Amino acid sequence: MKNCRKCHQPAAIYLPRFGLGFCSEHFLEFIGNKVKRTIKKYKMINPHERVAVALSGGKDSTVLLYVLDFLYAETLDLIGLHINLGIEPLDYSKKSLRLAEELCQKLDRELYCVDFKKEYQISMDMVKKKEKQLMRPLCAICGTFKRYLLNRYSLKLDCEKLATGHVLDDEVSVLFLNLFSGNIDQLIRTGPKLIAKEGVMITRVKPLYEVSELETTMYAQLAGLNFQDVDCPYSEGASSLKYKKFLQNFEEQYPGIENSFLQNFNGKILPPLKKYYQKPAERSIKTCIKCKGPTIEEICAFCNLRNLLLGKE
Ligand code: AMP
Ligand code: FES
Ligand code: ZN
Ligand code: ZN
Repeated sequence: MKNCRKCHQPAAIYLPRFGLGFCSEHFLEFIGNKVKRTIKKYKMINPHERVAVALSGGKDSTVLLYVLDFLYAETLDLIGLHINLGIEPLDYSKKSLRLAEELCQKLDRELYCVDFKKEYQISMDMVKKKEKQLMRPLCAICGTFKRYLLNRYSLKLDCEKLATGHVLDDEVSVLFLNLFSGNIDQLIRTGPKLIAKEGVMITRVKPLYEVSELETTMYAQLAGLNFQDVDCPYSEGASSLKYKKFLQNFEEQYPGIENSFLQNFNGKILPPLKKYYQKPAERSIKTCIKCKGPTIEEICAFCNLRNLLLGKE
């Protein structure tokens, strides 16, 4: 193994996509600097903003809050935002909540927790029971819930930005999923920073956009962070996970290929795609007549799903 590129001590970690070795201390510094550069490059967050950090208890969002707290302890007003989705098997939601609480306590940051079942009378366990009737993958339904709730509560908490723990591998696998299924609408709606619309949608940023899952895993371990290490019991068979595994294998054979795809896609493929396919309607998001949340139809996807689950019209 190589030596650390900074202090020349024996390296604890080797990053194939950069061809660099690091000791623990300088690996943490390297990732911190990378996140800082990503935030600057995409103009994600401004000093003194109030930022809701979507904290699932998983390793990526755990690393995200930890790094943001480390980098911007004095200049950002960070608040953890956790959604308890009501997943009982494996004590999944219970453990996730406990881990989110533990981290916020350690960093002395406020945690706002949304109890999905209490607030909306629905849970992912309920969705699981009605899986056949809903005819959509559980993860897709869960994604609709999470997007809706994270947006709603970060606005409610008077935040200027919502930061999520999406990493490079998440972004590339979603791009592939949408490319393979020809889902152009979704394909042109991705990126490191998704701008707010008409006061109903908060600006969403992904500070770990250029950090890989392998790197967040190593970061969490070296920084001594506890995180949810069990896969969600309802994510089994999800196609996004299959794409992710496939691409991670590919990355092992060709280090750096995921990042170069992402950069090429954003730089060369996305601009003409947007020009050709972006409909004016997409720029004018309306408000849902039931909940006032963002939607392009009369009623938002969240309200439709909730009504379906509760057997309402
Ligand atoms: P996922 O959709 O599970 O791939 O998660 C992507 C990102 O969404 C995570 O890194 C978190 O920032 C956020 N997220 C996922 N689940 C939750 C949750 N239960 N509560 C708060 N944020 C979440
Ligand atoms: Fe949403 Fe597992 S966390 S289905
Ligand atoms: Zn070193
Ligand atoms: Zn609605």
